[in-house]
Amino acid sequence: MASVPKTPLVPEPLQPTEPDGSPMHPADALAEGGLTVVDWLDERTQISPGLRWMMYRKVPKGINWAYTLGSATLFAFLNQAVTGVFLAMYYQPNVNGGAYESIRNINDNVFLGQFVHGMHKWGASVMIVLIFLHMGRVFFFGAYKYPRELTWIIGVVLLILTLAMGFTGYLLPFDNRSYWATIVGVNINNTAPFLGPYIGDFLRAGPEFGATTLSRFYAIHMMLIPGIMAALIGFHLYLVAKLGISAPPWLKAQEPEAAITTVEV
Ligand code: HEM
Repeated sequence: MASVPKTPLVPEPLQPTEPDGSPMHPADALAEGGLTVVDWLDERTQISPGLRWMMYRKVPKGINWAYTLGSATLFAFLNQAVTGVFLAMYYQPNVNGGAYESIRNINDNVFLGQFVHGMHKWGASVMIVLIFLHMGRVFFFGAYKYPRELTWIIGVVLLILTLAMGFTGYLLPFDNRSYWATIVGVNINNTAPFLGPYIGDFLRAGPEFGATTLSRFYAIHMMLIPGIMAALIGFHLYLVAKLGISAPPWLKAQEPEAAITTVEV
């Protein structure tokens, strides 16, 4: 019995071929496809020289594990951003039980909810530990000195913003602990000289601690600070790439001697 000829997966004229006309191996065709997409994008964006400039940098001799703390902090930040997006899909900033219940729902009912919530909650502490360690490395290695002062100043702002993320995030579960701890925190801010009362009013979103406070903390925690941080991290990393990583101080100490040349007269 005559059988119907099989239809080729890819129509003949579109089948990828080698330069000599023979059919191309599917794996090669796939790799080629990937390349052409990348080429297409690169031709239009000219992004590859920039990426190469950022990724393939020379680093000084003698660097060690302490130099990875900045990247570790970056990883912790990205973890907070990704897990935060998933939490925001279920969280409700509502003081009449909504916030508390939505967190309980995340932990008890949502698929992998407790895991994602745990990653976000513990990740916040991990990020704070890492950022302090990174700052300690930069301080003890003297990496804040000329020409890296601006990198340091942006780092200080990033440190303050990271702590502010911890403070604003702490209120969100809206259980007794987070409620009273935040009242204490806002009251401490209130006692700052001159600006204190204004900062307190701003944080509470009025004279009373209530529904508007929670919305304000949520907006600051979810949109304002992460946006500013992302931009500042971008600038921080641009400066790191532009100025290069500083050499470990014990190597620097040897440099001048090696550079000394004696001239015999
Ligand atoms: C979100 C927070 C931060 C991120 C993601 C981050 C990221 C990085 C990365 C990836 C580097 C490359 C070298 C390294 O890892 O040591 C770096 C370098 C540097 N960071 Fe940070 N950083 C942050 C916070 C800070 C803070 C709080 C300070 C200081 C107050 C700081 C000051 C510096 C300085 C001065 C350098 C240059 C170090 C050198 O050239 O040896 N950074 N940062």
